[in-house]
Parts: sequence; structure tokens; C-alpha cells
Amino acid sequence: MSDNHPTRCDLMLFGALGDLAQRKLFPALYQLERANLLAPGSRILAVARPAQEPDAVRRQLQESLRRHVGPAEFDAAVADAFLARVAYQSLDFRDAEGYASLREWRGDESHPLIVYMATPPSMYGVIGRHLKQAGCCDPHTRVVVEKPIGHDLASSRAINDALGEVFDESQLFRIDHYLGKETVQNLIALRFANNLFASQWNQDHISHVEITVAESVGIEGRWGYFDQAGQIRDMVQNHLLQLLCLIAMDPPADLSADSLRDEKVKVLKALKPITPDRMESHVVRGQYTAGTIQGRPVPGYLEEEGANRGSGTETFVALKVEIDNWRWSGVPFYIRTGKRLPEKLSQIIIHFKPAPHYIFDPDQRHLANNKLVIRLQPDEGMSLKILVKEQGLDKGMRLRPRPLELTFSETFEAERIPDAYERLLWEVMKGNQYLFVRRDEVEYAWRWIDQVIRHWRDAGEPPKRYPAGSWGPVASIALITRDGRSWYEDA
Ligand code: BG6
Repeated sequence: MSDNHPTRCDLMLFGALGDLAQRKLFPALYQLERANLLAPGSRILAVARPAQEPDAVRRQLQESLRRHVGPAEFDAAVADAFLARVAYQSLDFRDAEGYASLREWRGDESHPLIVYMATPPSMYGVIGRHLKQAGCCDPHTRVVVEKPIGHDLASSRAINDALGEVFDESQLFRIDHYLGKETVQNLIALRFANNLFASQWNQDHISHVEITVAESVGIEGRWGYFDQAGQIRDMVQNHLLQLLCLIAMDPPADLSADSLRDEKVKVLKALKPITPDRMESHVVRGQYTAGTIQGRPVPGYLEEEGANRGSGTETFVALKVEIDNWRWSGVPFYIRTGKRLPEKLSQIIIHFKPAPHYIFDPDQRHLANNKLVIRLQPDEGMSLKILVKEQGLDKGMRLRPRPLELTFSETFEAERIPDAYERLLWEVMKGNQYLFVRRDEVEYAWRWIDQVIRHWRDAGEPPKRYPAGSWGPVASIALITRDGRSWYEDA
């Protein structure tokens, strides 16, 4: 895993003119070029439907790199070197004959081929089959696919089956871009490189865990897709459950992909089902109405461009998740995620239990217990909240909460924090699957999410409204206060 030598490979990027490719994938590849991580001779074939001249596509890519990489990191010479690797092929993905031109581009090269499908999931099987028929793939071909892998267990199985007909599981790299975030990987280091935490990481010492993934953006321009999915499918089934797994899993035997993924699967299997009688106390769905974010008025979900005014899709979810195993018995994980919340913020808070015997001023008993705050974005870092004695002769044994701070941007000042896609593309090039999601993880996650969605459907209740710019429906506050706790807010 520490091997940092670029290996030569070819990349075929399907959906190369789409939003994901332009906003994330090409900028990430450009950054790899800038960091000298694209090996000499590595080539990129951009594949998309429009008939365009390769030069015109390269010009368009240059513009889009300039826009998305940002002036401080855009270097025209690097961009030129990068674009010299890029060829373009127009293709109707359903046209089997057309794949002959891809075969021709590939030639007789023997270095690995990476196929990145930045396309609707319904195309994964089609592209895979046609590539195989055209003789483009071999057992070393690596295939990268994006979420959503289905909208429920049955449809995810259909997608995985279609991929499985052509490729072995060891060739598949299912992206959950949260796993590529630097701080998310730091969870693994924090937990398994620091015995201090490892020994405390269970129900003997931890009272509860909070995970918040908040966004201030709304649905802008994605209403059609989002309305079919809703926040639980768009964010919880993948990103939040992955975070929960990394916090809750047992130590893996090593850092190999399967050791890590085996442990995550055990957590997913141990998620306690939320039965209909527990829905009210364990789940809150919300939908934003018009409001104000950072002083700017914003429309409600039903007033966004392209909206169907009668939609009952949720843009916010809060859940109390329980894990039925030895380590976490009795330790709830409160998770919440929503659009149009006051700020963009992802953080995990580990709340430790109080000391078993209290010897200080009873008036101060309410002072906080130890907490570990892990900030995933923005301002990546960690903060351990501890109690210390106030200074001064007149203070006696007055206590005060104080943080032990680690801010990554200050600690590693010279290092830029790479975007998740840079890390993930780099790992694909090295053939490392440890930051990618295995088929059984996707399916166990769907199994658990499906039952929640089924109970929602059966109950037929509309989502609870919350004004844009608030922290979600009032019921999401009740979800945690009912247990005598509150959502963490950094004072
Ligand atoms: C995507 C979701 O997977 O993650 C989007 O489809 C969401 O709805 C995005 O906005 C959030 O990602 P990040 O990296 O900005 O937190």
C-alpha cells in the first residue's frame, strides 16, 4: 500500500463529457499528472455519445480543467502534458459494433486496462458485455462503477449480476467517494494505530456516537434523479453506513481489502432492524421548505426548478441505529443528514461515559464527559474534549472543558489535502480494492435500508417540514433528547 510508483495503464472513461467526469474525474487525473503519478505511456480514452473532433474535446477539457482545478493549482504546461494523453471516441454505448474502435485504440497493449463507467447504472452490464465481445477485456481489466448501485436490494442485485456475468468480483471497484476522503481514511489510522483509543472503543467506555453529514446546498438541477432516490438512498445507504462501519467494525487482521471489508460486513449484518413499532422513536424524515441560508433566501424543495409540487421525498433523515453485537450493545448511533442545513459539515462525535466515581464539586457534575470530535469536512481534524483544572490560587478544583486539537491543515501545512477522487483513481491504478465497496456490503446495506423505506411506505406519512437553514425537523431533536442527550454543537 505504500508503493508510490506509478504503473502504466490505459483508462477508458465512459460518460466523459458528463458532469461527474468534468467536475471530478478529469480534475483528479490532472492532479495525478501534476504529482507525477501518471506513468509515462499511460493513456486515456474519453468515450461519450456526441460526435466531436478529438481536438475540440481537448479544448473543452482544458477549459473545464481551468474552471474546476482553480487558478492556484492550474498549470498550463501540466494541462498540456495531461491532455496529450487524452483521445476521444464517440460511441452509442448500446451499439455493439462501435466497440471495435475501442479495441483498435487499445491495440496489443498488455498493461492493465481500467474501465471507468461514469454512466447510468443501467448501462454497466451493456458496456461490460460489449467490451468483452469486442475483445477489450482480460482478467486484469479493472472496472470502476459509481453509485447508485440500484434503488433497493432487488435492483442492486440485478446490476451486480449484470456486472458479475462479465467480470470477477476481484476486478470490480465500486466507488463510495467518502472512502477516498483523507479524514475518513484517518479513522482507520486513529482506531488501529492508537491503542489508547482501541482499548476504549466499546460499550464499556462509550455511551453513544453521533454522525452528522450536513449540506447547505439544495437539489439544484438534479431534482429528477434526487426525487426518485431521496436522502436515505442518496446518502445513508452508502456514505453514512460506510462511516458507521468504519467506526463500529472490529480490528481487521491486516489492511488487505478483504480483511477490511469482512469486518464492515459483520457490522452491516448486526444492524438491528427497525420494526414498525420503533419507527416513530428511531426514524425522522424531513423535507425543506423555503428559508434563509447564510443570509440568502432560498426556495423550498417543492419550489426548486423542475419540482413536482406533490412530492413526498425526504431531503433529511435522522436515525437512531443500534448494533446487535458484543462491542456495541446498548450504544446508540444517532445519525443525521440533510440538504439545506445551515452549513456544510461532516463530523463524528464519540461520546465517552462518565468516570465511574465522581469526586469534584457536585455543581460541576453537569460538565461534559470526554468527547472525541472527528471533523471530516471542512477544516479536517480531530478534537479531544477533556476536563482540566482552572488556573489560579482562588479557583480550588474548579473544572473546565478544554480541547486537545489536531487540525490537519496546520499539522501538515505543506501538504494539500487531495480530493477523494484523486485517491480513489490512484488506488485503482495500483489495483488496491481496500477503499472500494464489495458486493455483499452493498447488498447488506440495502437489506437494512429497504425495511425502513417499506415501513415509511406502509405508514404513508408525509415527511416533516423544516425551513431551509435550520438543523432539520423538530422531531429530529426529539429523537435524541428523548434519550436525555442532545446533538453536539461546538460552542
Ligand atoms: C453524493 C450525493 O454522493 O454526495 C450528493 O449524491 C451529495 O447528493 C454528495 O451532495 C455529497 O458529497 P460531499 O463530498 O460534497 O460531501
